[in-house]
Amino acid sequence: MTASPVISATGLFTPPESISNEELVESFNAYVALHNARNAEAIAAGEVEPLTESSTGFIEKASGIKSRHVMAKAPVLDPEIMAPRWDERGDDELSIMAEIGVKAAKQALERAGRKPEDVDAVLCAASNMQRAYPAMAIEIQDALGIEGFAFDMNVACSSATFGIQTAADYIRAGNAKSVLVVSPEITSGHLNWRDRDSHFIFGDVATAVLVEAKDIAPEGHWDILGTKLKTVFSNNIRNNAGFLNRAHPETRDAPDKLFVQEGRKVFKEVVPMVSAMILEEADRLGVDPKSLRRLWLHQANAGMNRLIAHKVLGHEASEDESPTVLDTYANTSSAGSIIAFHKHSEDLGAGDTALICSFGAGYSVGSVFIRKT
Ligand code: COA
Repeated sequence: MTASPVISATGLFTPPESISNEELVESFNAYVALHNARNAEAIAAGEVEPLTESSTGFIEKASGIKSRHVMAKAPVLDPEIMAPRWDERGDDELSIMAEIGVKAAKQALERAGRKPEDVDAVLCAASNMQRAYPAMAIEIQDALGIEGFAFDMNVACSSATFGIQTAADYIRAGNAKSVLVVSPEITSGHLNWRDRDSHFIFGDVATAVLVEAKDIAPEGHWDILGTKLKTVFSNNIRNNAGFLNRAHPETRDAPDKLFVQEGRKVFKEVVPMVSAMILEEADRLGVDPKSLRRLWLHQANAGMNRLIAHKVLGHEASEDESPTVLDTYANTSSAGSIIAFHKHSEDLGAGDTALICSFGAGYSVGSVFIRKT
């Protein structure tokens, strides 16, 4: 008999420091003033383009973001640095990415009443890995004291939902009974804080989801009714950082080695793709989309979520039906829909059917229909 996968618990680590739009724009505009003053002659001669200021009004209206958490606030806001900074750790110390992953994972295990020896596998599912190998997942596995196996996977903003389906498939196939899907997202490392179009977008966080076989799951778990993944190639969200960058050192630090997007195109192309996929999957599972008690959507843009939720539910969604966390977390890549689920799920009752859905670079879309027991 095929085992049924469930979500037993989630965990969340939120970095203590946070940057408001006001602080962010003040720093960005100081950088603009510095750049324009330093290049005044070249700008006057038409050789260099002057930079334009950012605005808090635009950021909140265009995205819904008001603030974001980061692992290191001061260097990000310093107009001479505008990047995260911390001391490099030795190979015998826990990596920073593993550290925050472990914090989220411990909370998920605690909430499920699990010990490390109960877990069979760890997936580190995130948009960026701190290094190529050894895998972040194996480091997290080791720090937690878990036996079995672990590996990294990257599907950008959809890493966590792709991780949940992968974990669910191990359980369905009988290869594991308890799988941790950990998503440490230190997005401040790939965000170009000097780019006016995107400097406000991302925030740092770590989440963890414990996917288990129903026969061992704790009380109050969530049945996974179905998972669906989809990818369609697009150049509209790109990050060209990689190990082959050293083959052309002259462009190694160019802006395309950080996050770059055509935000408006992404908005227009992804909204219909995601709504159609959710409706098709609901139909396949025999779930009336209008009966969905809650949608925990990817947290990139409040306007996108409004449109998707409207299409799925058939009416303007309330905050209760489609909760927002991007106002205080910004876009946390794959962790966004999991933060929303973690923070806004305790009030649902037995029998409530709901949806976790992510979308982003690739393009990639992942949906997980779940029902509270
Ligand atoms: N401050 C002030 N004005 C700004 C600005 C800033 N920081 N950044 C851009 N603008 C200006 C632009 O110059 C443009 O001006 P113009 O009309 O005079 O040319 C105008 O605002 C609109 O810019 P645009 O980039 O078209 O904004 P937008 O309304 O599309 O909003 C995003 C930008 C990124 C917030 C939005 O497109 C988005 O969230 N898209 C989805 C992204 C997504 O889901 N990505 C997944 C990533 S994981």
